[in-house]
Amino acid sequence: MRFDRSMARSGGRRTTWAWLLALGCALAPLASLAAKPLALQGIMKDMGRNMQVIVDGLSREDYAMVEKAALAIADHPQPPAGEKMRIMGFVGSNARRFKAFDGETYDNATALAKTSKSGNGEDAIASFQKLQSSCLACHQAFRKPFIDHFYGKAEVR
Ligand code: HEC
Repeated sequence: MRFDRSMARSGGRRTTWAWLLALGCALAPLASLAAKPLALQGIMKDMGRNMQVIVDGLSREDYAMVEKAALAIADHPQPPAGEKMRIMGFVGSNARRFKAFDGETYDNATALAKTSKSGNGEDAIASFQKLQSSCLACHQAFRKPFIDHFYGKAEVR
């Protein structure tokens, strides 16, 4: 609202449109370079949200909540086949390592589901810490290379 009024005062809508047009032209090449996010990124965002649910569940001692979110992480969906091929093509000789990190995450999420089912807070927290470390291990090894490779330098992060 405020923006509109001040633009009207300083020369009317035509100026605004000329500006927007110029801005659009300047940004168009960038937009076409920015790659579409991988399905993997959406899967990761969901895992991140489930980690937040787990933290919340631990604070509330709501272990059913923790268990459910841990199982959702263990059983996270896979990217579509075509994307999986692109990913495996990119990781190349590191495919085993990449899969091993995913396997550790699965094991630790499953273990967290089990400990939270037993209702022991200390055990659940210890399992949660292990799970977080397995996320971190893969991120430290792969996240930056993925972003450089799949999104290129046009991606501003
Ligand atoms: C096997 C490797 C691997 C494991 C294990 C892994 N991640 Fe990721 N994660 C990635 C990669 C690669 C990216 C970058 C993906 C992209 O930007 O397209 C990423 C990105 C993310 C992001 C950022 C998404 C965004 O908004 O850009 C979050 C959040 C995330 N992961 C959460 C998690 C959590 C939580 C776990 C563990 C429960 C986990 N990840 C385990 C590989 C992994």
